Amino acid sequence: MLKIAVLVSGGGTNLQAIIDGIENGSITNTKIETVISNKKDVYALERAKNHGIKSSVVSPKDFDTREAFNKALLEEIDHAQVDLIVLAGFLVIIPEILIKSYRNKIINIHPSLIPAFCGAGYYGLKVHEAVLSRGVKLTGATVHFVDEGTDTGPIILQKAVEVNQEDTPEVLQRRVMEEAEWHILPQAIDLIANHKLEIKENRVTIL
Ligand code: GAR
Repeated sequence: MLKIAVLVSGGGTNLQAIIDGIENGSITNTKIETVISNKKDVYALERAKNHGIKSSVVSPKDFDTREAFNKALLEEIDHAQVDLIVLAGFLVIIPEILIKSYRNKIINIHPSLIPAFCGAGYYGLKVHEAVLSRGVKLTGATVHFVDEGTDTGPIILQKAVEVNQEDTPEVLQRRVMEEAEWHILPQAIDLIANHKLEIKENRVTIL
């Protein structure tokens, strides 16, 4: 059984896709051990509560220094004793101590086709705003392992989504979630839970 911690910062629709995947059997051998948010009062925490999943808040606002917050976040995750950390819309720079302690055990969902529209400053709606200003006709989402860079780790799955001429950032964000994110994030977790991934030299092979 793969025990996972899901880290969130907002609405938690990707968390919901994971919960639904476990409940409907499209994700197997997996248990959500805990949900951790960096913000109080986000809807993702409500979703965890509605499904009887343990949750906690570790907010930078409650600590004097970034180091103290990083340490508390690591302690909270260590305490949960998980095999995989899933960043499901967790909009915090992942501390290096966490990456080192959980090498190839952290995955992230990013709302573009990496290496386009990723890296520092590209998160949430900003990604879709940039996609629309550049006028690209295809975008999508990527699930990848997390390494020390921003959105540079080994790519697990990607799915393309069409951009329509009349899209607003909000409309495009919703389509990318519906057509890509909510499918490839649960799928990646299922692959990991069933030992179907191999990482070699920054490349992932599906076995
Ligand atoms: C999702 O679109 C996710 O891809 C994005 O934040 C949103 C969270 O939505 N993540 C990033 O931009 C990470 N760089 P959710 O809370 O409804 O899952």
